[in-house]
Amino acid sequence: MKAVRVHAFGGPEVLVYEDVPLPSPGPGDVLVRVHAACLNPPDWYAREGYTIVPESIRPERPLPFTPGSDISGVVVAVGAGVESWQVGDEVFGLVRFPSLGDGGMGYAEYTTSPASHLARKPASLSHVEAAAVPMAGLTAYQYLFDHVGLERGRSVLVNGAAGGVGHFLVQLAKTQDAHVTAVASGRHRSFLASLGADEFIDYTTTGLSGAVDHVFDTVGGPSAYKLLEVVKPGGTVSPVFYGEYHREQAALLDITFPSGQVHSDGQQLEALARLLASGQIRVGIDSVYPLAEAPQAHKRAAAGHIQGKIVLQVEDS
Ligand SMILES: NC(=O)c1ccc[n+]([C@@H]2O[C@H](COP(=O)([O-])OP(=O)(O)OC[C@H]3O[C@@H](n4cnc5c(N)ncnc54)[C@H](OP(=O)(O)O)[C@@H]3O)[C@@H](O)[C@H]2O)c1
Repeated sequence: MKAVRVHAFGGPEVLVYEDVPLPSPGPGDVLVRVHAACLNPPDWYAREGYTIVPESIRPERPLPFTPGSDISGVVVAVGAGVESWQVGDEVFGLVRFPSLGDGGMGYAEYTTSPASHLARKPASLSHVEAAAVPMAGLTAYQYLFDHVGLERGRSVLVNGAAGGVGHFLVQLAKTQDAHVTAVASGRHRSFLASLGADEFIDYTTTGLSGAVDHVFDTVGGPSAYKLLEVVKPGGTVSPVFYGEYHREQAALLDITFPSGQVHSDGQQLEALARLLASGQIRVGIDSVYPLAEAPQAHKRAAAGHIQGKIVLQVEDS
């Protein structure tokens, strides 16, 4: 089969489209014919050799490896003990995340996945759309409902609102009747209004204002502490990405920082699938590339200002 592999750490050019052996499903796994795979930040963190992580705690990733953990496709074989899926089922999922040694391997024509990491693909979604959901959608879902425990009718600010995680945060918060302020560059204004955002702040021209119960920060960085100015005392700031938040100052205002690492979860993905099927939420597609053009897709990601998700199409769907 064809797959994209990394043989040496580096820029997008190290992604090589080549022939590799077909994997076989172990106990509890299924083999999926991948129709589409989605890009996520951990794909380029791995491609670069985790240079984003301080050297003392940098993970080791054996070479070569196939990046990618978001997939949508069709089950073509089931391993021992699998009763939840049958050959022919259309599925999507965040596969083996977080895991390094035996990670998702999604940039390929076929991949194996633990049966429990998958959900049934809604019939109304293409494989490209379904592949775009799992990591970003589950991150938003787990932040809102597992980490923060969002109650109905709260006020929420999403920083980086047009990106993969951000656009799901906006929509899932609206399912709880939240009043949502979206922070993004001006080009995303109409996109975010169409997703239900109540307020829009163009961070390139306008400072932050307001007072909200919960902030979700998908941007982070050295100036992340400025977000504290718009959080009510007793509220929360959820760092989806690392930032400097002046936590001692926040503690004086009883502001807490609920967060966590996204993880594979087929049942939570079923909940997202129901919301997608009913039209309560939708997925934004920034751009689509053929699998063989994975380097171009990674270059698009590096250019930033992503609106929704970047997807690799593996087979016409
Ligand atoms: N904790 C976890 O488990 C977890 C899970 C998933 C992702 N993450 C992390 O979360 C981060 C976001 O991931 P993602 O997939 O959503 O990224 P993404 O799709 O690239 O989205 C980032 C968004 O931020 C916007 N942005 C950039 N600078 C900004 C600024 N200064 N203020 C406001 N918005 C700004 C960008 O567009 P504009 O600049 O045009 O507005 C873009 O839409 C990544 O660093 C990723 O590693 C963590």
